[in-house]
Amino acid sequence: ERERERERERQGAMGKAGQKRKHVEADGEERSRKEAKREDVVVNDAADAAAAAAADAGTDGRDADEGAAPAKAANPAMAGGLTAPMSGVALAHDEMKCGESKAARNVSTGEMLHHIDPAVANLPDGEDVEYRIAPVVQPAPAQRPRKPPPGAWVQSTDDMLGPDSQHAYVQRWVRMVKEEYSGSVKFKVVRNDGSRENLILLLGLKNVFVKQLPNMPKPYVTRLVFDRKHESMALLKRTERGEYIVMGGCCYRPFAEQRFGEIAFLAISHNEQVRGYGTRLMAHTKEHAKEIGLDFLLTCADNNAVPYFKKQGFSKRITLAKELWQGYIKDYEGVTLMECKLHAKVNYLNIPAFIKAQKMALVERLKEMAHAHIVFPGIDVTKTNGIPVENIPGIKAIREDIRGKDDPAAGVLPGGLLGGESADSTASLPRGLRPSLANRDPAAQEALQKHFKKVIELVKNHASAWPFGEPVDPSETGAYDYYEVIKNPIDLKTIKSRVDM
Ligand code: COA
Repeated sequence: ERERERERERQGAMGKAGQKRKHVEADGEERSRKEAKREDVVVNDAADAAAAAAADAGTDGRDADEGAAPAKAANPAMAGGLTAPMSGVALAHDEMKCGESKAARNVSTGEMLHHIDPAVANLPDGEDVEYRIAPVVQPAPAQRPRKPPPGAWVQSTDDMLGPDSQHAYVQRWVRMVKEEYSGSVKFKVVRNDGSRENLILLLGLKNVFVKQLPNMPKPYVTRLVFDRKHESMALLKRTERGEYIVMGGCCYRPFAEQRFGEIAFLAISHNEQVRGYGTRLMAHTKEHAKEIGLDFLLTCADNNAVPYFKKQGFSKRITLAKELWQGYIKDYEGVTLMECKLHAKVNYLNIPAFIKAQKMALVERLKEMAHAHIVFPGIDVTKTNGIPVENIPGIKAIREDIRGKDDPAAGVLPGGLLGGESADSTASLPRGLRPSLANRDPAAQEALQKHFKKVIELVKNHASAWPFGEPVDPSETGAYDYYEVIKNPIDLKTIKSRVDM
């Protein structure tokens, strides 16, 4: 109700100028409706084509209806994670020199994806395809990797990392790349250059934003989307009839001089959300932003949008100098200003390759510090009649590597699996496989004993524990053949006495 009241006030404030524009919009609406029908690109709802006409007539979005932007005192929830332009501060779009940039020329998806291996894009469908991401920057090999002892060998880094396809984010990425290569979706930079095609795309975008951001005033969304100082990365989906419809987009305002962009609206059509398009859209927006010379993206996100932006690399920590953005970005109450630094070396359209390169570099470092890359041949249990743990080849080699060949604590890893806490778990092993008591780490033993005591105490205090508190007394219970049936009896008292020992 309050919002409607405000809207009415705003309408009143618009006065005659506003009324006049309404007439222009009404005329334009009819005209654009007819035009939209003729276009290849289908827009969801042509009802607001008026805005296109107004924008076409030169409305730059900063004039009389500035009041349409949500005021600072407005309900913060309404912000929807968005920002409004700062009145009086403007850089002409033409000054941005982005006209020279590749993306500003409405680069085709194919061009944008040239650096992604077509082998990935044309992968056959299938859950278990063990594809390899390409191209990956090969890391420097380990300088002094731990050497395998005789009989053992070194595993390849690729084998250590496993197939790329096991990662959900890679599967999603492959799906996106394939969709783009096949042309079933396209990303396109759209701005209000007056061309019919772009105006209709902007209209479609505006419709998506209005639907997905219901708390944003419609005139405000319309004004910014058609504003010539803003531009949008549009996500288009091909229909069965071969037409492209607007499925989502990101509207932002580049501040070329300060080298940052302010994201105003970002949305994906309801039925296509949580399928990875939002992430891909952000990746294209970032790559384009880099191309037009921006180093940062800023946005004001509401509570709902913060987690999404976090996943896209945005942080609440603002490192961009305040004087560069303050006064340019309209701050709302109750929203969080977030920043994403754009790294020149990161290809945001091929993050899996980037992550893989990092993992490979880590594995190379690990080879200098650990033994994970060394594979031992294994034990032929058919030929041995049990083997002491400390004599398992891998364990022996690691012990020698860590402690030196002559260390008396044979088979003991410091604080590790067989060094202490789990030594007790070997009690059930055949005698030959048990580590000797002398090899157990006393400190680890004590810690383990303390832990066990706690567990026993908890179990004893359980409401249903009473039948298990003491050994069964056949005469008392009448279960005279108990010990004939139960060959390995146990009870909590016996367990406790063993732990105490
Ligand atoms: N809260 C928490 N997490 C969210 C989220 C939200 N509101 N929206 C998306 N995510 C998460 C997804 O679960 C996913 O996580 P994952 O990578 O761990 O699986 C990740 O963000 C990206 O998901 P993705 O499928 O790529 O995004 P999408 O296609 O659903 O698009 C939005 C995300 C926000 C654009 C979309 O939900 C939308 O249009 N929302 C309405 C408009 C809006 O709120 N816009 C943001 C402010 S302008």
